[in-house]
Amino acid sequence: MKAFRKEVLVAVLILALAIVCGSGIQFLLTLQEIHRADQAADVLISETLTAVADYGNAERERCAAAAERMASLPQVKQQRLDDLHLELLMIVNPWSPLPEGYAPELATVVGDYLMDSRCAALAWQMIQDCSAYSGGLPMICSAYRTQEDQQMLYDNKVIRVMLEEYAPYEEALVRAAAEVALPGTSEHQLGLAADIIDEIYPYLNNFQETMPTQIWLSEHSPEYGFILRYPNGTSEITGIIYEPWHYRYVGEKFAREITARGITLEEYVAWRRGR
Ligand code: DAL
Ligand code: ZN
Repeated sequence: MKAFRKEVLVAVLILALAIVCGSGIQFLLTLQEIHRADQAADVLISETLTAVADYGNAERERCAAAAERMASLPQVKQQRLDDLHLELLMIVNPWSPLPEGYAPELATVVGDYLMDSRCAALAWQMIQDCSAYSGGLPMICSAYRTQEDQQMLYDNKVIRVMLEEYAPYEEALVRAAAEVALPGTSEHQLGLAADIIDEIYPYLNNFQETMPTQIWLSEHSPEYGFILRYPNGTSEITGIIYEPWHYRYVGEKFAREITARGITLEEYVAWRRGR
């Protein structure tokens, strides 16, 4: 009987040892797996950063592919990638002026038109594709502006409002600012905005929205990372009139999300902050 008890005890001990060893091995394997996922995430983040830094079609595809793979990564890694792009969501509006001394790195879009080097080539690609597929004649009519450029445009607008709408000076200052942003509060000074119109109807008014260029851009601009920044009926939020020609770069991920939700940049940023 005693010998039997001893055997049972030995068997129990062996079993317990096996369980402990098994758990230990399992734990080590899990650690290894986490380490591997971590390394893979780092590679993806660096790939995506390279893709964002370079421009052109091939890079955009790489960027999209990397972003797709990012979806399967641990949340914390995705958050890191998001943070790297957050600067592109910078709000510049009548209530949020540009940061003091803001000086974007610029690159040529076409001719004398410049934009932030992160989006200049994408803007040009978008215009070329629009030209090829929309049936319209897209052309850029404004891109990066210096403080002096913006001041000149604003002063001219104030004078026009006074002359054409018989507005007194004080009122003209306010009315003009809803169409030409006060110097220091224009997205054009950020280098991330471009005005694109159709040569068939090269005027900056609501009718511009009916042009093939705008119909195509309103659907496809997010693929290039751009949003229509001042949609119809959102002046209370943006502080600017409806501008069916003003496109703002925020990067493809955010542009797709903002457009799909049908909200303004202000609302999107507020929503992200509250998440
Ligand atoms: N027209 C837009 C609001 C600007 O001047 O920036
Ligand atoms: Zn504009």
